[in-house]
Amino acid sequence: MNSHLLEITYLIASVGFIIGLKMMGNPKTARNGNLIGAAGMILAIIATIFLYPTEHEVAQIVYYLIFAGIAVGTIIGWYTAKKVQMTKMPELVSLFNGMGGACAALIGLIEYPHVMEKSGDHTGLLICIILGLIIGSVSFSGSIIAFLKLNGTLNKAIRIPAYNMINNVLLLAVLAFGAYMVYSDVSITNLYLLFAASLLYGVLFTIPIGGADMPVVISLLNSFTGLAAAAGGFLYANQAMQTGGILVGSAGTILTFAMCKAMNRPLSNVIFGAFGGGGAAAATDAAGGSIKDISVSDVAVLMNYSKKVVIVPGYGLAVAQAQHVIHELEKLLEERGVEVKYAIHPVAGRMPGHMNVLLAESNVDYSKLVEMDDINPEFPTTDVVFVVGANDVVNPAAKTDPASPIYGMPILEVDKAKNVIVNKRSMSAGYAGIDNVLFGYDNCSMLFGDAKKVITELVSELKNL
Ligand code: TAP
Repeated sequence: MNSHLLEITYLIASVGFIIGLKMMGNPKTARNGNLIGAAGMILAIIATIFLYPTEHEVAQIVYYLIFAGIAVGTIIGWYTAKKVQMTKMPELVSLFNGMGGACAALIGLIEYPHVMEKSGDHTGLLICIILGLIIGSVSFSGSIIAFLKLNGTLNKAIRIPAYNMINNVLLLAVLAFGAYMVYSDVSITNLYLLFAASLLYGVLFTIPIGGADMPVVISLLNSFTGLAAAAGGFLYANQAMQTGGILVGSAGTILTFAMCKAMNRPLSNVIFGAFGGGGAAAATDAAGGSIKDISVSDVAVLMNYSKKVVIVPGYGLAVAQAQHVIHELEKLLEERGVEVKYAIHPVAGRMPGHMNVLLAESNVDYSKLVEMDDINPEFPTTDVVFVVGANDVVNPAAKTDPASPIYGMPILEVDKAKNVIVNKRSMSAGYAGIDNVLFGYDNCSMLFGDAKKVITELVSELKNL
């Protein structure tokens, strides 16, 4: 009876994961989708604790420990997720993902001796255990390195000579040793050796990759964690773990490739290529044109007498936390009969959907956010494009300069608008570490300063007009 109930509960939980994931594809339904997925997970956890068939009676203290663990984890998770700033979200995701990898690795460490004690052929179970251990450990140590890089503790891509070859040899050695452990009766010491080697591979895999490429790497490691969890699901014949793991694995893989496609860079280039100089390069008159400053009051006048203004949000908008004041600007302009839209590039910011989430925070109407392919044809009829803290995603070099590292990346073609106003603090480069030729174009003017401060001034100037 219990086992049927358990299976039905797992089925309901799995349907919850799938519906939740589907709903997360649309900003309007994303919050509810998240709640439905979480409800499915809670159901699966409770059903596993109370209905999972066990060989021996479970001591009372084990239940106390499980619920104490859940309580501590919930408090820490809730508190950190509530407190985290949007720009720090990739860091948090990498830390949470690392915890998932660690859990998968711990399953391997704990279950290997149990399975080895059993008589008969357990090749299938051992394959699940070893795969879960290797993939989970790589994901754990890789995610911790990603976290340290994102929070600035490890701020350089460390490339030892022939690192690529060393990594590949280590990976092959880990896989070969894992295969050996499946087919031979080996000691627990070897299990810990495999664990240590897998952790080392996770570190060596992540450490040469530039800090700015971390969102792609985190998404890749996230898919690894999903696969490791799915391996655990097969080990325990737990359908909810299998479905959850496979969904995370495939969603992470799709996201990884979607990000690479949007940047026009193959995954191999993210992992092995040196991209992103770190943002300190000084762009000058790269386009052969000169850089023109514009004042806040001139921008206010220009916008006030425009028919159509398109705002291009980028990473700097998130850094400045200027999402509320930009919404105020939008409302003010609309009250004066100016049509205002936001142009959303798929990799603007530092994580997928970054700009959508940021603007949703300040209640910008979702219908005003226009995707790149739809807004590009509108730029020639736009009076003012206001680029706020965006750089690479509007760099025409992606279309015109085959030598540029971002050549081929689809961009927002803002240079086709009548006037382009770029707000940033200095002439520093963006994520890709390269000059932006747009800044030297005749129709482009620079409005220097922190986005929040400058837009607040712009709003008060507009109110006085
Ligand atoms: P970036 O090219 O990184 O440019 C951001 C600009 O914001 C910088 O040039 C910076 O210039 C400015 N800025 C920083 N703080 C500011 C502040 N307080 N006020 C005003 N401006 C500020 O950003 P983007 O155009 O959004 O492009 C995103 C980049 O990240 C792309 O190259 C993309 O490939 C990459 N990337 C994105 C993702 C995802 S999924 N979104 C994942 C991996 C990589 P100053 O320092 O002069 O102010």
